[in-house]
Amino acid sequence: MTSPVLDLAGIGVGPFHLSLAAHLDAIPAAKAHFFDDKPAFDWHPGMMLEGVELQTSFMKDLVTATLPTSPWTFASYLVSQKRFYEFLNADFDAIPRREFARYLAWVAGNLDNLRFGRPVREVRFEDGLFHIRLDDDACMARNLSLGVGLKPNIPAWGQVAHGQSCFHTSEAAYRLEGLKGRRIVVVGGGQSGAEIMQHLLSRPEAASQSIAWISRRQNFQTLDDSPFTDEFFTPHYVERFHALPHSRRQATVAQQKLAGDGISASTLRAIYQKSYALRHLSADEHDLAFMPHREVLDLRCEGGEFRLVMRNGFDGSVEMASADAIVLATGYVFTVPEFLAPLADRLDLDERGLYRLRDDFSVEWDGPASARIFALNAGRHSHGIAEPQLSLMAWRSAVIVNALLGRRHFDLSPRPSAMRWTADAAPALSQAALQQPQARG
Ligand SMILES: Cc1cc2nc3c(=O)[nH]c(=O)nc-3n(C[C@H](O)[C@H](O)[C@H](O)COP(=O)(O)OP(=O)(O)OC[C@H]3O[C@@H](n4cnc5c(N)ncnc54)[C@H](O)[C@@H]3O)c2cc1C
Ligand SMILES: NC(=O)c1ccc[n+]([C@@H]2O[C@H](COP(=O)([O-])OP(=O)(O)OC[C@H]3O[C@@H](n4cnc5c(N)ncnc54)[C@H](OP(=O)(O)O)[C@@H]3O)[C@@H](O)[C@H]2O)c1
Repeated sequence: MTSPVLDLAGIGVGPFHLSLAAHLDAIPAAKAHFFDDKPAFDWHPGMMLEGVELQTSFMKDLVTATLPTSPWTFASYLVSQKRFYEFLNADFDAIPRREFARYLAWVAGNLDNLRFGRPVREVRFEDGLFHIRLDDDACMARNLSLGVGLKPNIPAWGQVAHGQSCFHTSEAAYRLEGLKGRRIVVVGGGQSGAEIMQHLLSRPEAASQSIAWISRRQNFQTLDDSPFTDEFFTPHYVERFHALPHSRRQATVAQQKLAGDGISASTLRAIYQKSYALRHLSADEHDLAFMPHREVLDLRCEGGEFRLVMRNGFDGSVEMASADAIVLATGYVFTVPEFLAPLADRLDLDERGLYRLRDDFSVEWDGPASARIFALNAGRHSHGIAEPQLSLMAWRSAVIVNALLGRRHFDLSPRPSAMRWTADAAPALSQAALQQPQARG
């Protein structure tokens, strides 16, 4: 053991733990280290394609919502890069994802509680402490935080074919170049699938290439980011959602899919306009197919080509499609990380193998109450659709800091909201008015 006992050991440094690390940076008394397996901070590099945009306001950065005086705001980054005015003059509707990734990397490069190139191999709990084993090192901590993100979802039918010509979107930036001039099928109707389509249709060879886009959803559906839907991405809503019974939460979150996983309207418009140009304004032969409401059931490799078997949810038929390459835009899934194997029997998982999370993002387990395991991006079922998104990362960090310190370091008490998700949310005055209607004079 080379270091003193930490108050918190964080595993993984994506945006969510970066936010927590930025909050803890302002509290020197709390000793925390965050370990990441990558050599340096890099935000989803496999999907950093030309022209992709952030789906979230840049105001919802690592810290502004809870600690606006922090040196780690997006505005501080702009000032440090000497492009504050130019950024504002550019008047982006949605900022380039590359810009936000550079902001995140800038913060990561300046915090001294992060350790890169340090994969965590195993976590044990002995003598009241977490023992974290790295490759050539180890450390001990009173509390643990899991920020390892989600894993690419490669459906069972895609696993055999997975390789050079059948790959997940998380590898797209490294593999798409090799696919020029071939028949490509993109499977998945979320934002990742849309960005792959936008990229493929932007290449000069698009005019002579066969490209098909399959979505299991009924159509290529837009992200709902209208004002009332965005109320799902507020602490006020998350607190009430968490208080619901388990079964009610599941039904609610399923209905809200397009608020988190729909496609940005600007991306859909760009794809449609590129399709229009190819079909009507290009002299070349094109072969472009949009195939909504298809679920891929099977994938076979026959005579050097892929054969996809699909169920058409529109007319109920079973269809086939052929391809030389398949891009799996099939999203991401939660898994309990392997390094937690020594604690596997002690975690209280639900029937689907998901953590049971308390309102402060700590996992139910049979260890002492003083030794907490926080889990970020692992509670869509418990905290709602905001959980895998950037929107509330600063607030969640502040909730975790308060729990870690055991006191209200951040004042997170909300202002009364006009949104009455439950009767208890109504201010006392309105409650009284409801109970005792005044006679009209
Ligand atoms: C392409 C893409 C774009 C997105 N854009 C948006 C957006 O615009 N707006 C929005 O709200 N949401 C967006 N999201 C959703 C979400 O905000 C991101 O996925 C975000 O990166 C999640 O952050 P995270 O910290 O949980 O995980 P990640 O960013 O996945 O980071 C996890 C880190 O943990 C490391 N790690 C894993 N295991 C170990 C280990 N054993 N030891 C050490 N390190 C480990 C990984 O290498 C990684 O660096 C996007 C998602 C994707 C895929
Ligand atoms: N620029 C950005 O801001 C950006 C870029 C990429 C991703 N993101 C975010 O990251 C998250 C993940 O996005 P994502 O697009 O990777 O994943 P996603 O939203 O989960 O989409 C995965 C898609 O694959 C479909 N699918 C899964 N199995 C299938 C099968 N067998 N046959 C046909 N279709 C199948 C799903 O259908 P169902 O819907 O029916 O399950 C869904 O349409 C989202 O929140 C997204 O907004 C943001």
